[in-house]
Amino acid sequence: MSSALPPRVRIVEVGPRDGLQNSPSRLTTDVKIAFVDALSEAGLTDVEVTSFVRPDRVPQLADASEVMGGITRNPGVRHWALVPNAKGLAGAIESGVTNVAVFTAATDGFNRANVNASVEESLARLKPVIRDAKDAGLRVRGYVSTVFGCPYDGEVEPVAGARVSRTLMDAGADEISLGDTIGVAAPGDVDAVLDAHESMGVSRDAIGLHLHDTRGTALANVYAGLQRGIAVFDSSAGGLGGCPFAPGATGNLATEDLVYFLGRLGIECDVSLAKVAEASGAVGAEIGRPLPSRARAAWEASTR
Ligand code: HMG
Ligand code: MG
Repeated sequence: MSSALPPRVRIVEVGPRDGLQNSPSRLTTDVKIAFVDALSEAGLTDVEVTSFVRPDRVPQLADASEVMGGITRNPGVRHWALVPNAKGLAGAIESGVTNVAVFTAATDGFNRANVNASVEESLARLKPVIRDAKDAGLRVRGYVSTVFGCPYDGEVEPVAGARVSRTLMDAGADEISLGDTIGVAAPGDVDAVLDAHESMGVSRDAIGLHLHDTRGTALANVYAGLQRGIAVFDSSAGGLGGCPFAPGATGNLATEDLVYFLGRLGIECDVSLAKVAEASGAVGAEIGRPLPSRARAAWEASTR
């Protein structure tokens, strides 16, 4: 293993939220609960369970409270929920959530489609949400979408995302996740975005990468991030996923692909590829569509 790479990576599993929010078939609450629990049992220390957003905008996750209420709480696992505003935070706290992710974007076009607000408006809305969450003792993650490109506004200057990250950190966020929402980035873009964050004083220790594999570049971008010392990556079991408000956004980087890749690099993550593949397989069978993960397909072939 190259000594320049981090020895250990923390994976934030977003399958139950990002993976299912755009699903063509509606899954039962019990299937979702079983999915979350199976992912926790696979060794994942961070699982994003659901979102407390408008149920008419994301009906797939309208049972957020029920899912949160049904999962097995495990002291070794941080269960996360996405919250867009004060109402979402209140719902999350009522459901016993202790880790919340707020979200905004680098670009106005996507942000308006996603949360009905410009970037500035959404940051103004999120500042008190972050403060209230911190006052309530919660851990807060801040997503910045469209850092590498926007389905509405096109190319994005690296500094645009860095400014938003800086604002979220100044507002009290514990960590930032930089979203390649429509999967357009290549390694040079990762470098440019991380350079911009460095120049804005956002510590690499606070940064995670949230990659979508739309064009097959996600693992190359993981490697670029690793070379810069990034040690937090978001991924989705099976490669499920996509944002309903980002045309063309397909699956997230698959957890199985990431786990395989890290293993070959000698980087610890303590996640069982087989158990993740079993968990995603159960959900894939419910959805009735093949899962995009390549490492999962290879695992499945090897078990036949
Ligand atoms: P809005 O319409 O601007 O909100 O929605 P509003 O404050 O004007 O309220 C309008 C109505 O919505 C009111 O109800 C509110 O009570 C209700 P009424 O009085 O008319 O009956 N409302 C809510 N209901 C339930 N839960 C709430 C809530 N808030 C207001 N939290 C809002 C603004 C952001 C809420 C809306 O646009 C929304 O829910 N959008 C969905 C956004 C979403 O979930 N997107 C997908 C996740 S982001 C993503 O996937 C990207 C990411 O993966 C990273 C990446 O890949 O880049 C994270
Ligand atoms: Mg996403």
